[in-house]
Amino acid sequence: MRGKFITFEGIDGAGKSSHVEWLAELLRSKGLSVQVTREPGGTELGERLRELLLNEPMHLETETLLMFAGRREHLARLIEPALARGEWVICDRFSDATWAYQGGGRGLDKNKFLALEHWVHEHLQPDLTLLFDLPLEVARERIVLANRVLDKFEQERADFHERVRQAYLERVNAHPSRMRIIDADNTLENIRKQLEVVIASIC
Ligand code: TMP
Repeated sequence: MRGKFITFEGIDGAGKSSHVEWLAELLRSKGLSVQVTREPGGTELGERLRELLLNEPMHLETETLLMFAGRREHLARLIEPALARGEWVICDRFSDATWAYQGGGRGLDKNKFLALEHWVHEHLQPDLTLLFDLPLEVARERIVLANRVLDKFEQERADFHERVRQAYLERVNAHPSRMRIIDADNTLENIRKQLEVVIASIC
C-alpha cells in the first residue's frame, strides 16, 4: 500500500520544524516507516540549491524556478520512491510555500505557479498539510529570541510576512480537506495534542 505524504507549512518563526521529528516518532510508534525531509533541500542537489535560495538575491522567477527544480529532484529521488515503498513522508514545506512566499509574498503570477505545479507534480498532492498559524508579532519575537543570522526571507519586512500568512490562509480555504490549521500560538503540549487529533483522522 502507498504511504502517506504529510507537509508542514507556516510563516517563519511558526515553530513547525520542532514538531516534525516528534510527529515522525509518533507515527513510528504506530509501526509505520517514516522519512523526514525538507524543502528547499531534501537531496544533495536540493541542499545546494537551498544555500543559494536562502542567501543570494535573485529575480522572482529564477527563485520560483529553482524552488520547483529542487522539488522535481526531491520527488524523483526521495518522495515518490518512499511513498511507493509504503513509507510515510513528512516534508517540512512543499509547494504551498511557493504559493505563499513567491505568490503571496512576492506577487508571482498565479498562473505561473499553477503551470509549474502542474508540470512538476500534476498527480501528487500531500495527503495532509498542517499549517502552523500564529500572529506575525509572536513569530517575529521567536525569531529575535533565537538570536541567529537571518536568511533572505527572514530579513523581509513585516508586510511581506503578513502577505505570506494571508496567502496560506486563503490556500486553506481553497483546500479544506487537505489542509488543517494548527494554532501555533500555544504551548508545546497543546500543539502536540492538536497534531494527535488531526493525525488520527488519516491513520
Ligand atoms: P525553513 O526556514 O522553514 O527551512 O524555510 C526556508 C525558507 O524558504 C522559508 O523562509 C520559506 C522559503 N521558501 C520559499 O520561499 N518558497 C518555497 O517554495 C519553499 C519550500 C520555501
